[in-house]
Amino acid sequence: MNAVSAHATTDASPRPEPVRVELLPAGKTFPVAPGQSLLDAGLAAGLALPYQCRTGDCGTCRATVLGGEVERQPAAWALDETALANGHCLLCRTQARTAVRIECAEVDGLPGLPLRRLPVRLASIERPAADVAVLHLQPPAGQTLDYRAGQYIDVVLRDGRRRSYSLATAPGKSDQLELHIHHRPGGAFTGQVFGGLKVRDMLRIEGPFGRFHLREETQAPMILLATGTGFAPIKAIIEQARRAGLRRSVTLYWGGRQREDLYGDAMVRQWARELPWLRYEPVLSRPQAGWGGRTGHVQQAVLADYPDLSAHEVYACGSPAMVASAGSVLQAKAGLRPTNFHADAFAEAAA
Ligand SMILES: Cc1cc2nc3c(=O)[nH]c(=O)nc-3n(C[C@H](O)[C@H](O)[C@H](O)COP(=O)(O)OP(=O)(O)OC[C@H]3O[C@@H](n4cnc5c(N)ncnc54)[C@H](O)[C@@H]3O)c2cc1C
Ligand code: FES
Repeated sequence: MNAVSAHATTDASPRPEPVRVELLPAGKTFPVAPGQSLLDAGLAAGLALPYQCRTGDCGTCRATVLGGEVERQPAAWALDETALANGHCLLCRTQARTAVRIECAEVDGLPGLPLRRLPVRLASIERPAADVAVLHLQPPAGQTLDYRAGQYIDVVLRDGRRRSYSLATAPGKSDQLELHIHHRPGGAFTGQVFGGLKVRDMLRIEGPFGRFHLREETQAPMILLATGTGFAPIKAIIEQARRAGLRRSVTLYWGGRQREDLYGDAMVRQWARELPWLRYEPVLSRPQAGWGGRTGHVQQAVLADYPDLSAHEVYACGSPAMVASAGSVLQAKAGLRPTNFHADAFAEAAA
């Protein structure tokens, strides 16, 4: 076995060429480019590596370096001295200095779809609410992005920082990609979207990413939970269910503070009239006077309606607080199976 040498510094002279990574126990190899993380390189090669945040915050992509030299970048999920001595690393925060061998089991579920980096033109920008923008992005002619309903892409900013956004339409519905973006004043990307971004401007995107996607192989009734723009991937999932002719019962709980936060409310009410399998429950946490609907938080509304979720699948997307609470509350109090809880938390990117 080669000696493992790991470095936490970033002052090495850049390596000019891609090098080879050998992944065990699968015995697969893939190239990693200079400056690219082992995770992004593996995903680009179509490998089903484990990951969630891609920013060093969750520890999901932990792996062992068996040989070669790597460079570890600082991460919020810090590895202790023993883990480092044993060659552990986070694939999303590790680059290769030489050819390397790593050990990491691939995960079941979503087979890798080809990862693509595309220049896209902003075809339209709408404002269904004061702090929400719906963007339609046009890829170059003849170039499409293969993805599953529920997955997300990264917008790559000029300085290389990335921001993740869920795709809001079922794949193949249009050649354009739809994003729903909530304004974060002072935010690096959403500041641009709500500032100077104009129709015909170019953006760079990369994707698809994520394991949050509609499972079509089961007949379990579905509960969909969204807060704010967490509605985007949920919309894609409903569109996909409709297109695939699924007849499983689906209940959507969409939460916001006030009515304006449910920026697609009229459209969802229309779907609920058209689709016998879809029920819609808007839930407001700080409703204006006159609101006659549900109040409180979406996960509490689900619990009140479904005390037994042992045969259900739950999909949750939006604020990290809602996703964390829904996962623990619905499993602890309603018997939801951990394997039937699928979620994407809209965590902010690490600095
Ligand atoms: C898998 C995934 C999918 C996602 N999908 C979506 C989606 O579909 N829609 C969506 O709206 N979001 C989504 N997000 C969140 C999104 O990726 C961004 O985190 C979010 O849009 C903020 O990006 P930003 O660059 O505008 O803000 P950032 O620059 O990341 O700033 C984040 C926060 O910090 C504050 N801040 C920034 N700079 C300063 C400063 N100098 N001083 C003080 N405060 C500051 C900002 O005000 C803001 O509140 C998703 C996240 C993940 C992980
Ligand atoms: S994917 Fe979360 S730490 Fe790497």
